[in-house]
Amino acid sequence: MKIKKKIVLIGMMGSGKSTIGALLSKKMNMKFVDVDSKIETIEKQTISQIFKLKGEKYFRELEVETISSLLCSKEKELILSLGGGSFLDEKIRRNVKNNSLSFWLNWKPLTIIKRIRKSSKRPVIHGLNDQEIEKMMLNRNKYYAKSDFKIDCDNHKKNQIVDKIVLILKKNEFKS
Ligand code: S3P
Repeated sequence: MKIKKKIVLIGMMGSGKSTIGALLSKKMNMKFVDVDSKIETIEKQTISQIFKLKGEKYFRELEVETISSLLCSKEKELILSLGGGSFLDEKIRRNVKNNSLSFWLNWKPLTIIKRIRKSSKRPVIHGLNDQEIEKMMLNRNKYYAKSDFKIDCDNHKKNQIVDKIVLILKKNEFKS
């Protein structure tokens, strides 16, 4: 299969973008870049440290810059997983629309809440209760819905999710 456009994975924190991206990259034999990890490498700090020491505004600017440069790079066979807040940015959405095929990994709020509660790595949910996280997620879903394809992930194993994406890519091979 020849995919000419980049592939972008979108969705809430804990939706498995990094895991699915890595599996998809093996299956498609395409390079995979996790944008958060890339930012951590550039800054030599974890996302939590960046939020704490430099603030969210600084992180968001860096996120726009990093995603833009990856999407505009000449590298063709590239899969990107985006941080959960990035698709709220209009410039990023436009760039993703113009340069990639985007997939929203959609889960029920309860699944996401259970997962992200287990980790302390996510500064944007610090101090929020479950209801507040659900509200944030439902608001963000309006933006995620602007991606090219929605993948319903509940009750599916990782490999089944990857297969769903591959099937869509096959169907859209010539459009990509
Ligand atoms: C964020 C999600 C995180 C990371 C940062 C902000 C968000 O990425 O970019 O903590 O606003 O949803 P993941 O979606 O990979 O957890």
